[in-house]
Amino acid sequence: MATVGLGVYESYQCAKAVRLALKNGYTHVDSARLYGNETQVGEGIKASGVERSKLFITSKVYATDFNDTESAVVDSVNNLKYGMEGKRGPLGPSDYYDLYLLHSPHGGKQKRLKAYRGLLEARKKGLVKSVGVSNYGPHHIEEIRQAGLEMPVVNQLELHPLDQQRPIVEYCKKNNIVLQAYTPLIRFDFSGDRNGVIQSVADKLQKSAAQVLVRWSLQHGFVPLPKSEHEERIKTNADVYGWEIPAEEMARLDALDLGDDGALNWVPVHEP
Ligand SMILES: NC(=O)c1ccc[n+]([C@@H]2O[C@H](COP(=O)([O-])OP(=O)(O)OC[C@H]3O[C@@H](n4cnc5c(N)ncnc54)[C@H](OP(=O)(O)O)[C@@H]3O)[C@@H](O)[C@H]2O)c1
Repeated sequence: MATVGLGVYESYQCAKAVRLALKNGYTHVDSARLYGNETQVGEGIKASGVERSKLFITSKVYATDFNDTESAVVDSVNNLKYGMEGKRGPLGPSDYYDLYLLHSPHGGKQKRLKAYRGLLEARKKGLVKSVGVSNYGPHHIEEIRQAGLEMPVVNQLELHPLDQQRPIVEYCKKNNIVLQAYTPLIRFDFSGDRNGVIQSVADKLQKSAAQVLVRWSLQHGFVPLPKSEHEERIKTNADVYGWEIPAEEMARLDALDLGDDGALNWVPVHEP
C-alpha cells in the first residue's frame, strides 16, 4: 500500500488538490461518498496525467447506505469514472477503487455484516481491489471473524499524538490489519498540547510541525492521510523521508496521549 495519502475531507478545491498532490509525487488519495467529491478526485487524476494503474484510490460508504453497499460501490466507481472520462458506465476493468471502506460501525451487528458482505461481493466483481473498515473497535472486527468472513485489510482511525487509540492499534497490529491515520495533523489545533511539545520537537529537528506529525505516524507504522489544498503544504507535508524523529523525541510525543479526550472527531469505535 502506498504510504502518505492525501485526505480530501472538506477539500473545497478537491480536483486541484489531487492534481497538485499527484504532480508532487503522491500516489494515494483518501476520499469518501460522504465528502461528495469522488468525481473531483477523478478530475484531479485526469488533470495530473498520471496513469490510474500507478495510483491507490480509496473511498468509503457511510452507514446510511449499509442496506445495499454493492450499489453504493457501483455509484462510487461511476463517480470516479465520470471525473476521469466525462461518462458513467458501462464499467470495465480500469474502473475500480484500490481500497473501499465501511466508513463507520453505526447500525448494529447485522447491518454492519450485511454491509461488509456487500463490499466482498463488489470485490468479486472487480469493482474494488481490497476491503476494509474505518472507526472500528476490536469487537466490531471480531464480528467479522466470527461470521467466518475474510478479515479487513485496513482499519482507518483518528490517530495522532493526542489520540493514540492504543488498545485498537495493538489489536490491529496483532491481526496484520494496516492502520491508516486520519486527522494526522490534528487539524492544526494543538490546544491539547499544553506545553508546546509538538512545536518544540519541530524546532529541534528544524522541520515543520506538520512534518513531525506525519513522520510520527510513519514511525508508528501507520499510513497517514494529511489533508491540504495548498501546494506548498501538500509538498512539504509529504517531505518526510531521509530523516527520523529520534527515540527521545518520539517518547515526548508519545507522552501526549489524551485518549478519547484528544479526539477531534466523533468516537464511534465504542459503538455497541
Ligand atoms: N474515516 C473517517 O471517519 C475520517 C474522518 C476524518 C478525516 N478522514 C480522512 O483523513 C483526512 C485528514 O484528516 P482531516 O482533514 O480531518 O485533518 P488533518 O489532515 O489533520 O488537517 C487538515 C487541516 O490542516 C491544515 N493544514 C494542512 N497542512 C498544513 C500545514 N503544513 N500547515 C498548516 N496547516 C496545514 C489544512 O488546511 P489547508 O487545506 O488550508 O492547507 C486543514 O485545515 C481527511 O481529509 C479524510 O480523508 C477520515
